[in-house]
Amino acid sequence: MHIDIVTLFPNMFRGPFEESILRRAQEMGALSIAIHDLRLFGVGKHRQVDDVPYGGSPGMLLRPEPIVAAVESILDRPVFRGAGETVDLSTLPPIILLTPQGRPLTQALVKELAQHPRLVLICGRYEGFDERVREFLATDEISIGDYVLSGGELAAMVLVDAVARVLPGVLGYERGAEEDSFASGLLEGPQYTRPPEFRGRRVPPILLSGHHERIAAWRREQALKRTRERRPDLLGPTARPEDAGDR
Ligand code: ADE
Repeated sequence: MHIDIVTLFPNMFRGPFEESILRRAQEMGALSIAIHDLRLFGVGKHRQVDDVPYGGSPGMLLRPEPIVAAVESILDRPVFRGAGETVDLSTLPPIILLTPQGRPLTQALVKELAQHPRLVLICGRYEGFDERVREFLATDEISIGDYVLSGGELAAMVLVDAVARVLPGVLGYERGAEEDSFASGLLEGPQYTRPPEFRGRRVPPILLSGHHERIAAWRREQALKRTRERRPDLLGPTARPEDAGDR
């Protein structure tokens, strides 16, 4: 998978993309990431990327031209569906705005995104995007939660991390991602490692019993208990049937 990221702050990505799983995913060739500096596509001598909103509300908005120029340069083809222009969306990679107005990122969506050979992520800043970016350029908008970050960069990192770890071979142990919280639709239950006793607290004896079937049943029970206690919404009538088995 190849991921292009358009941002005003390329340096923000340095640390997180150079460590741990994301580093390994890139080294093994499962993932490549290109960071594109939006400023290079800015308008005029000052490479302006933002401006005040028409109608007078506070803050600044990202102008459409730099974002469209950046994405058309990255994909080397017209992508803006402006007046009279037709673009065959089926031949485009997803062009995703990171914004609190987007659809929520869930494990089901992560898996869906991981099916694509390429993604283009556009990080917002300031008060947001000129609406024409939404309407005529983006093919999707994603939010990582109901809170407002100072920009889409951290959200893009979260998305890339979540997608990278479900790519084939990246975790090294194939069952890893499947056993995570959400992958089964339940939160993960308690886990223990050595020592068997720590300051008087013992590991539940069942885990040391060697009875694989009983251990599996215990784990399932614990996962259900934890989900019931912490996230009953994942079990309840509001759970959407189409997500079953995908959280
Ligand atoms: N940009 C600002 N806040 C965001 C959020 N919650 N998710 C995605 N992008 C954002």
